[in-house]
Amino acid sequence: KETKDQFFIDAGQKHFGTTMCKSCGMIYTASSPEDEMQHAHYHHRFLEGIKYVGWKRERVVAEFWDGKIVLVLPRDPSYALRKVEDVQELVDHELGFQKVVPKCSNKTKTFLFISDEKRVVGCLIAEPIKQAFRVLSKECSRAWQCSDVPEPAICGISRIWVFRLKRRKRIARRLVDTVRNCFMFGCFLSTNEIAFSDPTPDGKLFATKYCNT
Ligand code: ACO
Ligand code: ZN
Repeated sequence: KETKDQFFIDAGQKHFGTTMCKSCGMIYTASSPEDEMQHAHYHHRFLEGIKYVGWKRERVVAEFWDGKIVLVLPRDPSYALRKVEDVQELVDHELGFQKVVPKCSNKTKTFLFISDEKRVVGCLIAEPIKQAFRVLSKECSRAWQCSDVPEPAICGISRIWVFRLKRRKRIARRLVDTVRNCFMFGCFLSTNEIAFSDPTPDGKLFATKYCNT
């Protein structure tokens, strides 16, 4: 039994002949020149994209031992908006979204989690909404279904993303906590007042856990 476990552990780490870059998180075959080329390209673009040089006027809305959360609003200086665009492009690429969706509305609020290595390692895009359809999860089933009855909601989360190498450190949780606190001045939104749009499998696992605790 022990040898079997060991086998799986080894296999997992080596990804059957593939390597994971410790900087950008891409998994690729180091022995394939094509893969290496693709990695070199992605690596550079990704690290440029998440680089955060620090802004003269940044809106810090939360601070932690391992980083901080900065809020970017639609009328902010162009360097801030450009950073948000770059990060959104990386996120959309990872989520497999087609080319950038219409420009941010003037009500979009973007929350960036900045690590103490000065990188954008988390991003949450929130918009005001009026209603949402609750996801009905059936026990013992992997199927998800939405109710037909709209329920009032206030804040829609259209994107939530955490850098692959920084996941499961509660960064997403801290981003959502911060949105609930900052989205509407003077009140802390309940989990019923926020809604995740079109969640991915990762997004569903996170949202289910988040909303039940
Ligand atoms: N599998 C199972 N449980 C999970 C997962 C997962 N992949 N991710 C989060 N959870 C649960 C866990 O219970 C976790 O607590 P624990 O680590 O103590 O067990 C809890 O949620 C809190 O997780 P966080 O650490 O706060 O989440 P993280 O910072 O890792 O980010 C996220 C989660 C944003 C979904 C990340 O996995 C990600 O960026 N994935 C790729 C992009 C994506 O799919 N985003 C969602 C798109 S949907 C939308 O944008 C509306
Ligand atoms: Zn890399």
